[in-house]
Amino acid sequence: MDRTLALEFVRVTEAAALKSGRLLGRGLKDEADGLAVDGMRSTFDTVPISGTVVIGEGEIDEAPMLYIGEEVGAGGEPVDIAVDPIEGTNLIAKGQNGAIAVLAIAPRGGLLHAPDMYMQKICVGPRAKGVIDINASVTENLRRVAEKMERGISDLTVVMLDRPRHKDIMKECRDAGARIRLITDGDVNPAMECGLEGSGVHMVIGTGGAPEGVLAAAALKCTGGDMQARLIPHTDEEVRRCHEMGIRDLNHVLTIDDLVHGDDTIFAATAITQGNILREMKFFPGGARTHSVVMRYKTGTVRFVDTIHKLDRKLKSMKVK
Ligand code: FBP
Repeated sequence: MDRTLALEFVRVTEAAALKSGRLLGRGLKDEADGLAVDGMRSTFDTVPISGTVVIGEGEIDEAPMLYIGEEVGAGGEPVDIAVDPIEGTNLIAKGQNGAIAVLAIAPRGGLLHAPDMYMQKICVGPRAKGVIDINASVTENLRRVAEKMERGISDLTVVMLDRPRHKDIMKECRDAGARIRLITDGDVNPAMECGLEGSGVHMVIGTGGAPEGVLAAAALKCTGGDMQARLIPHTDEEVRRCHEMGIRDLNHVLTIDDLVHGDDTIFAATAITQGNILREMKFFPGGARTHSVVMRYKTGTVRFVDTIHKLDRKLKSMKVK
């Protein structure tokens, strides 16, 4: 993919943040999501790609825009696209930290077409690459990661969704002495942070959305991190979807390269609310300021983009009040 596209993709995540950011804390998660989808969708139309949404807002009958299979872009290189216009809709609705607008792009066939079901995940950064094993215990994974990172387990910070299903892994992490950060939503952001030096996040573990798993894998692939995952189907229909994807053994472990294949992935995210690395977007009279990251697997470049937007000019056509 042409490297100049990287900046184009930041414009797409910025548009999602700009359109939805005014609804911070207003309790309107669906409305915020709708605005973000609209911003992302219309900006894609200005990007010189022939994109197919492989991870999006749902199936064609569930979502009016950015549905799976939708073609987007102004025409150009054929690419597959994974989007989450707001990753952490509850976070924006409640004005809490960690909401991002996010996407990943790869040449056709480069992203696992993960169905909307749960996925068990373990994510680490580049300094712990090669040692995680989703089939081993949490304690064993912590031990290996600590050893590889040349620190004690008590110097590792592990992030997981605060869910009853994580009771056992939470207990294991606590018993092993790791520091734990429980989040209410949004497991892509901390997974991305794992790959970035200085974020203070060393591992993300637990079960969350499968589509979010592919986005996390794209970020970690670009930064040289590592991830293993397993689809967790709960219904017959979800089992059928796994079979359709060629996954017959439901214990099948997906590596980071199964989730994101090839050597040409781009990942972009814009903060809507505050993160450990990305700063919360801010509005001021006539404008806004956003903080984004864009990464390319090919070169390993991680670029931060701090943008001041003149909203009175830019969003005239976007109907943001
Ligand atoms: P949204 O789709 O509302 O943005 O929620 C995202 C999320 O919190 C993901 O980050 C996470 O993977 C998943 O939902 C967790 O699902 P659940 O809330 O069912 O535990």
